[in-house]
Amino acid sequence: MRRLGILTGGGDAPGLNAVIRSAVKTAKHEFKWDILGIKNGFDGFIDKKGIIPLDLNAVRGILPRGGTILGTANRGNPFARNITIDGVEKVVDYSEETVANIKQLDLDALIVVGGDGTLHIADELSELGVRVIGIPKTIDNDIGETDYTFGFDTALNVAMEAIDRLHTTAESHHRVMVLEVMGRDAGFIALHAGLAGGADVILIPEIPFKYDSICKKINQRIQRGTHFSIVSAAEGAYPKGSSKTYTTEGDTVTYARLGGIGDKIGKYLNEKCGVETRVLVLGHLQRGGSPTAFDRGLGTRFGSHAVRLAANNVFNRMVALKNGQVTDVPLKDAITSPKRVEINGDAVKTARSIGISLGDN
Ligand code: F6P
Repeated sequence: MRRLGILTGGGDAPGLNAVIRSAVKTAKHEFKWDILGIKNGFDGFIDKKGIIPLDLNAVRGILPRGGTILGTANRGNPFARNITIDGVEKVVDYSEETVANIKQLDLDALIVVGGDGTLHIADELSELGVRVIGIPKTIDNDIGETDYTFGFDTALNVAMEAIDRLHTTAESHHRVMVLEVMGRDAGFIALHAGLAGGADVILIPEIPFKYDSICKKINQRIQRGTHFSIVSAAEGAYPKGSSKTYTTEGDTVTYARLGGIGDKIGKYLNEKCGVETRVLVLGHLQRGGSPTAFDRGLGTRFGSHAVRLAANNVFNRMVALKNGQVTDVPLKDAITSPKRVEINGDAVKTARSIGISLGDN
């Protein structure tokens, strides 16, 4: 009997359960294989009770559910794990123990569902002899070599609905509403939600902005008799010549957390530009809840493809979507070429053509 393992790591994204369900169903129906769930990312290899068998009963009814039935961990890097010994916090390398535990489980392959950080860990484990297959997940849509990651479409729709709702209150009160959405290094959510929701200003990390250019756009609208405006800003957007805004600093184990650029823009607009402004940080609402049809479908196709790769003894690849087809690419290629908004691509061009300000002129 051949055996697979599957884990979900990093921030959750709608569609994770669709991937797990599809991998289990493909393993069972098509190949009659065993499949084990590793709980809370790579931590499951270290923690007691971290490994659970997955059968058809375990995945029944999970397709419409957000989150992940396996749990996840942001700080679960086996190469740098935070532990407390005698009240003192230490960073310990658990990679040897992790690899030994994976070998003991006799896995034909480990399916790793995650974003940039998790896929980097998978790649490092592959260098230690673990046979991995990556599946790209992130609401930010910033993984290279794939047209889409699952989770993005759901987050985008949540952000678009938020803009729709902000429009009605902005218009009634003759105000500016700033919406801060997720997007550390890539502005896909801010850009596409801004396009779909009809924002007047879109600010993304790929195009540093100028405060006075936002003010200029809002004032142009006022001069034309439109006394409300919507700004769609990625959390990773930043003013030209300055840097991103963080709420907490990072360390060797955790990355720095972004947040607060929306408030800075709001303050500027209220105090310097003289327009009444309110700010909404959409936060984790974007990551929670039921996945859209697109994300359920993509997750299902990704999960099944990963199992078929293992059946064909193809490892150290990442499942990807290219030109509408699910395929696979070398894992290393994907993690070394992160995806960003093309600043001269058609989406940005269209935004400019229809009069949206990108905050840069
Ligand atoms: O990577 C996806 C993401 O949504 C980023 O845009 C955001 O900065 C991060 O996750 C926040 O994650 P958490 O709150 O889990 O640290």
